[in-house]
Amino acid sequence: MNTEVKAKYLKDYKKPAYAIESVDLLFELFEEETLVTNTMQIKKIDASVNDLTLDAVNLELLELSLNALKLQESRYIIEEEHLTVLNVPDAFELKIKNKIYPQDNTELEGLYKSGDIFCTQNEPEGFRSITPFLDRPDIMSLFTTTIFADKKKYPVLLSNGNKIKCHDDFNERHGVTWQDPHPKPSYLFALVAGNLGSISDEFTTIQGNKVALNIYCDLGNEQKCHHAMHSLKASMKWDEEKYGRAYDLDIYNIVAVDSFNMGAMENKGLNIFNSAYVLADTDTATDANFMGIESVIAHEYFHNWTGNRITCRDWFQLTLKEGLTVFRDQCFSADMNSVQVQRIEDVKALRERQFVEDASPTRHPIQPESYISMNNFYTATVYEKGAEVIRMVYTLLGEKNYRQAMDLYFKTFDGQAVTTNDFLWAMHQCGDFDLELFKRWYKQSGTPRLHVKDSFENGTYSIVLTQKVPDDVDGKKQKPYYYPLKMGLLDRDGNEILAETLIISKESETFVFDNLKEKPVLSINRDFSAPIIVEQEENNYAFLMKYDTNSFTQYEATQNFALRTINEIIESSAINNDFVDAYGHLLDLDVDLSYKALLLELPSVSAIMQLQKEIDFDVIYDAQDQLLLHIAQKYKEKLLDIYKQNHLPASGSLAAKHIAKRAIKNRALKILSILKNSEVAELAQKQYEESLTMTDRIVALDVLENLHVSYAEVALQDFYNRYKDETLVMNKYFAILASSSRYDVLERVEKLQRDKVYDEKVPNLVRSLVGSFARNHKHFHAKDGSGYKFLADKIIEIDKINPQIASGLCGAFKVCDKMNKHNQELIKKELSRVISTQGLSKNSFEIIDKILK
Ligand code: PHE
Ligand code: ZN
Repeated sequence: MNTEVKAKYLKDYKKPAYAIESVDLLFELFEEETLVTNTMQIKKIDASVNDLTLDAVNLELLELSLNALKLQESRYIIEEEHLTVLNVPDAFELKIKNKIYPQDNTELEGLYKSGDIFCTQNEPEGFRSITPFLDRPDIMSLFTTTIFADKKKYPVLLSNGNKIKCHDDFNERHGVTWQDPHPKPSYLFALVAGNLGSISDEFTTIQGNKVALNIYCDLGNEQKCHHAMHSLKASMKWDEEKYGRAYDLDIYNIVAVDSFNMGAMENKGLNIFNSAYVLADTDTATDANFMGIESVIAHEYFHNWTGNRITCRDWFQLTLKEGLTVFRDQCFSADMNSVQVQRIEDVKALRERQFVEDASPTRHPIQPESYISMNNFYTATVYEKGAEVIRMVYTLLGEKNYRQAMDLYFKTFDGQAVTTNDFLWAMHQCGDFDLELFKRWYKQSGTPRLHVKDSFENGTYSIVLTQKVPDDVDGKKQKPYYYPLKMGLLDRDGNEILAETLIISKESETFVFDNLKEKPVLSINRDFSAPIIVEQEENNYAFLMKYDTNSFTQYEATQNFALRTINEIIESSAINNDFVDAYGHLLDLDVDLSYKALLLELPSVSAIMQLQKEIDFDVIYDAQDQLLLHIAQKYKEKLLDIYKQNHLPASGSLAAKHIAKRAIKNRALKILSILKNSEVAELAQKQYEESLTMTDRIVALDVLENLHVSYAEVALQDFYNRYKDETLVMNKYFAILASSSRYDVLERVEKLQRDKVYDEKVPNLVRSLVGSFARNHKHFHAKDGSGYKFLADKIIEIDKINPQIASGLCGAFKVCDKMNKHNQELIKKELSRVISTQGLSKNSFEIIDKILK
C-alpha cells in the first residue's frame, strides 16, 4: 500500500498567503519531451510568511530564477509534490523552466496525448504536473500562453482566450500566443495542439457581440459535429433567456478527443470533450447519444458562468458549480425536449447511481468533509444529488424569486472563488426558508426516508409524515431535513381535489385537510420534489397509475407497484394479477409515446436490488424474468401491435415524434424478447437488417444476442465489420457483449480484450468492456467468484496505467455489505488482494479501504 496516504479536510482551509497576478507560459512541444517556461508575477498577501511552496509533481527542473536572477540550489527545495522557494520578497517575478513527457502520460491528467493530439486536463489538480503553481481554485490569475510545435504535425495550436499573435517564420516550427482577459484558476487552463478538422459558426450575443464558434475533431469527422454546434448555439441562447447570462469572449472553441477520463471539461473558452459527447450522425449514434451530446455541450457551456466566472474556493465546494450546473443542464434539456420525460430520466439516473452510492460505504454529503484523492469525488452525489438540492431551492423560491436570487448571486460574487454558503446566502435573500435546517443537505449523507400514514374521520383527512434519517457512514446520528414536498389529493373518481407544496421541517408532523366527502387518494412527492424515499402504509398504486394528473407520480406508482409485485414473487412465487391488469391499462393509454415507453419499462435489477435485505442476484433475475414473461405472454398481441404501428424502418428522422416512435416500439420488442420465440427473433433480425438508425440497429443486436439465436453471430459479425474503424460504435459492440446473459460472457470478455480494436489506454473502451461486465450482475456476481477475480486483476493492471479509471471500476464492489455471505466473502478476498498491491494508487486505495471497513 501507498505509505503517505493523507486525507485533506475542509476544516483545514486557509486563505492563500500569495497571489499570482499573472502567468506567462511558453510550451515547446516535441515528440520526446515538452519544455515549459512559466513566468509568474507573485505578490505576498500574508507578510508573516517567508517561503513560497508551490505544488509541483515529479518536477524535472531546468532553470529557476527570481527577478531575473538565477537561484542557487540552497535557495529552494524540491520534494515529490512541492517546490519551495525560500525567503522570497513581497513582490517578485518567478521564472521556472521544466521538462515533462506528455507522450508517456497514461493517466490523462496534466498535459498528455490522445492519439496524435496534445491536450490537457487540469481539474482538479492536474496543472501541478505541468508546471509548479499554487494549484488551488482560489488562486485566480491572468494567463498568457505561447505554444511552439511542428507546423505540419500540429497546424492547430489552441489555448484559452483570444489569439493575440502568430509566430510563423521558424522553418518547420510555428507558434501562437493566446491571452485570456479573465483571471481564472489553474484548473481551467487548457492547451491543444494537433492536426485537426473543424466546423465553424457564429453567435451574436444579446449585447450584440459576435462570437466565433469552432468545433475541432479528428480529420474526417467534421460532418459529425453539427449536432454539437446546434446544441451549443441553443445553450447560448437559453442561458441568455433563462438566466440573463451572455458569453464573454469573442471565441468559443470545443475540441473532441478520444482519450478522456470523463465526459468533458469546461476550460475557459476552450472546452475539451470526450469525443463520445461531440460526434454523432444517425448511422453511428443513438437517439440517446444525441440527447447526451445536447446536455453535455450545454453543461460545459453553462459552466462559463457557474464555475468559471464564479468558481469554487476549494474542492470541497465542488457541488457549488456541479450541482448547480447539472440542474441548469437538466432544465435546458427539459425545455428542448420534454419536461415530463426529462424529469423521469433524471430521477431514474439518480436512483440507479446515487441512491446506490448513498447506501454504500463510500457515501458522502454533497459537500464532503475530507478526501484522499479529489478525483474520487466527481460522484453522482456531488453532481446529481447536488442538482436535486438546487432544485429544492428552486421549488422553495418559485421561478421569479429564484431568478432574482441568481441575479444577486452573479452580481455579488462575479470574479470570485466562493463557497456553497455564499450561494445559499444569495438564495436566502430572495426567499424565506430555514437556511440553517436546509444546510443539512450539504453536510449529511444517505437517502432520507419519509414514512406516510394517513387516516380519514368526519370529513377530515390527516397525513402523518415521519422522517427516518439514516446514520452517517461512521454511525453518527443525523438530523431531519427541510424540504418542499409537492402533493395532490384525488377523489375516488380520479378528479383532482387539490395540489399543494408542503414544507417538511420536523422529524414528525401532521397535515390535515378538512371538508372532504370521502377519503381521498394521496399522490405524494410529485415531480420528485425532494430526493427521498417515500414509504407508504396504504397504497393506491393501481388507482394512481390510472388517474394521477402528475406524470411523475403516475410513473412512480407503476414502478412501486411493479417492485412490490416482484418482491412478492421473490417471497412467494405468486404473481399479483392486479398489477398485471393495471399494466394492461397502460398499454392503451393515449399519451406522449416517449413517456409511454418509460411507463412500460419494468424496474431494473438495480432498483429491485435496493429493496433486498440480502442480495442474491440469481433470485432477482429470476423474479424479474417471471413477471416479464407473464406480461409478454398475456399482452403479446397488444405489444406486437404497438411494435408494428410504430416501426418505421425507412425513417432516420430525429424529430421528436420519430424518436418517440422508436422508443415505444423498441420497448415493445425488448419486452417481447423474453418469449424467446422465432417470431420475435425474426422481428429483431428484420429490424437489424432494414433500419436506418443506430438506435434500431443496436436494440435489435442486443435483443438477438440475448435470444441466443444463431443469427446473432451473423449480425454481430456484420456489425463488427461495418464499424470496426469507428471506435465510438465499437464501444457499443463491446458493451452489448459484456452485458449479455450468455453463460460464457466472461470468457468472451477475456477474448475481446485481445481484439485489435480494444485498447486498455482508452477509458471509453475500458468502460464499455470491463465496466459493462462489472455491471452485468448475473455474471459479475457469479457464485464461483470468477467475475470478482477478473475485475480485481483488471483493477490492479489498469491502476498502473490510469488510477482514475481503476478507482472507478472499484465502485462495482460497493454493494459488498448488502450481498449474501457467500459473495461477501469472495469480494473481501479479492479486495484484500488488490489493496495489498505494491504501489497501488491513492485513488483505488481510498475506495477499497472504505468498502473493506
Ligand atoms: N468539470 C467537468 C464537468 O463536470 C468534469 C471533469 C472533472 C472532467 C474532472 C475531467 C476531470 O463538466
Ligand atoms: Zn460540470
